[in-house]
Amino acid sequence: MASALTFHPIPLPPSANPAYFENVGRRVEGFDPAQMTPEQLKEIQEQLYKHSILLFKNTKITPKQQFTLTKSFDEKSENYGHGNNKTGKEKSSILHPDLKTIPHQPQVQLIGNGKVPGEYEGLDSPQLKHPHHNTFHKNPISAEDEEKGATRFYRWHIDAALYNLSPPKVTTLYAVSVPKGEPQTCRYDDGTGDELKVPLGGTCFVSGKTMFDILPAELKSLAVRTKVRYAPHPYVWMSKAHALPTGLGIENEGLELSQEELPEWEGSKVKNYPICWKNPVTGELHVQVHPCGAQALHIDPLPAGAKREGALYPDGGEVTDLKEVRETLYKIQRPGIAPELVYPQDWDEGDLVLFHNRGLLHSVVGAFKPDQLRMFHQCNLAASDDPEGPDAKDVERYA
Ligand SMILES: [Fe+2]
Repeated sequence: MASALTFHPIPLPPSANPAYFENVGRRVEGFDPAQMTPEQLKEIQEQLYKHSILLFKNTKITPKQQFTLTKSFDEKSENYGHGNNKTGKEKSSILHPDLKTIPHQPQVQLIGNGKVPGEYEGLDSPQLKHPHHNTFHKNPISAEDEEKGATRFYRWHIDAALYNLSPPKVTTLYAVSVPKGEPQTCRYDDGTGDELKVPLGGTCFVSGKTMFDILPAELKSLAVRTKVRYAPHPYVWMSKAHALPTGLGIENEGLELSQEELPEWEGSKVKNYPICWKNPVTGELHVQVHPCGAQALHIDPLPAGAKREGALYPDGGEVTDLKEVRETLYKIQRPGIAPELVYPQDWDEGDLVLFHNRGLLHSVVGAFKPDQLRMFHQCNLAASDDPEGPDAKDVERYA
């Protein structure tokens, strides 16, 4: 019989404010992927929705077991969250170079850095490349500062195609090989002076629920009334654009691809998602926006009887000016990535992390040397449904 699972607080770095992490993150003991039971999977799902991040130490998990675990969150899901067909014009997607698909389990991707020696899981000595912010940010940090250990958040995001496919419910990340190195300093470089000590190549997480909870009333009201329309093929659309120094969105340079330059697309596959996604277990609201892919906002007017004084867009409206779209989203999201709200996962080999992809944002940080070998297995599955937004009661409460 499988042993009982126990749940413990995750280890927080000194930079994190424990007051915001009471319900965020749990370390799980007693789980063996080779002997997972339906009861355990049910418990893991419930805990994930309550705590957003589950960390399992010293784990051994095969790609097939990882797929089974991931799929248990949505039995009707089957395919990798971004799909596996990157052909024709879709080849220019900015996600393309970072992923190597494991041939015998194509929903699981090998990601990381360096050249894997020899055959690995059916791949012939795959060459991996950790994303470096200087390929994406408009004004990267200087080589000199990088030498001294400075880095950036590469890109805050949800794992989601944001076109045609629905956002995965969970992402599972399994650390196979982790190079050791000195911690780095992640700089925000947005004039605030904010910075954060991060482990080399750590994965940073922020709670979408906290991002909502800390907003002033007028931004909560706007958040529960607004839907984001994502660009068709957003990762192709933004492929020539550059990111803000915080990695939380795109600079306004007019570099997005025009409609004619995009791969063929259909209006019915374009995604419109509420800013706030409702947690299926707790009922709480999480600000869940992938700021880079946002193209327009649809804002509902204030409900009858709501206080108009101080309200933003009291009569609602369509925002199609990209600068205004981005500035509005940034106001809602930037407070939620403050250093004290970030959980940077300091990876050890054998760590398995499950995160609620519809309840938080994440970003990689750091820069590796070409010979530093980092190998992770990543799995997420395009969901069988779309996320729910705020219900009538939420709108009544916050609008
Ligand atoms: Fe990701």
